[in-house]
Amino acid sequence: MEKKEIKLSVNKVEYELYVNPKTLLVEAIRDHIGLTGTKRGCETVSCGACTVLVNGLAVKACSILAMQCIGMEITTSEGLEANGKLAPIQNAFLDEGSYQCGFCTSGMLMATSGLLIENPKPTVDEIKEAIEGNICRCTGYNSIVRAVERVAKGMYKEDSL
Ligand code: FES
Ligand code: FES
Repeated sequence: MEKKEIKLSVNKVEYELYVNPKTLLVEAIRDHIGLTGTKRGCETVSCGACTVLVNGLAVKACSILAMQCIGMEITTSEGLEANGKLAPIQNAFLDEGSYQCGFCTSGMLMATSGLLIENPKPTVDEIKEAIEGNICRCTGYNSIVRAVERVAKGMYKEDSL
């Protein structure tokens, strides 16, 4: 299939890529741009490891083509920190120990970031619903829910989220 030149804006940086029209967003981010925080797990839209923000909404990057994201702002876990400071949700994950092997963590961070953008004061049920499509096989979900609750309670003053 003939390759196409496209521009993608990721973490506020514009990248020019030469991709097959069937290239998934997760492939463009990892293999073409080299941002490997976004993980590639099931590639069947089941695990959530590939979750990124597309125009502020949490999207599984294996469910969308790179070409569909032209003109949109994509944010990956690398783009959460600003001016050398971690985002509140990243600090909350650290404080609550919301990770173990870390494979699911960037997807969890992006799913919960998307939730907090949409709904800065989510209930526990809303937090659980937001991470329903993200699978963690080693940390357990309670510490992740507690981390989101910390941010929702305004325990972090950083303004990068
Ligand atoms: S790799 Fe996208 S949901 Fe699993
Ligand atoms: S921390 Fe290992 S899969 Fe979630």
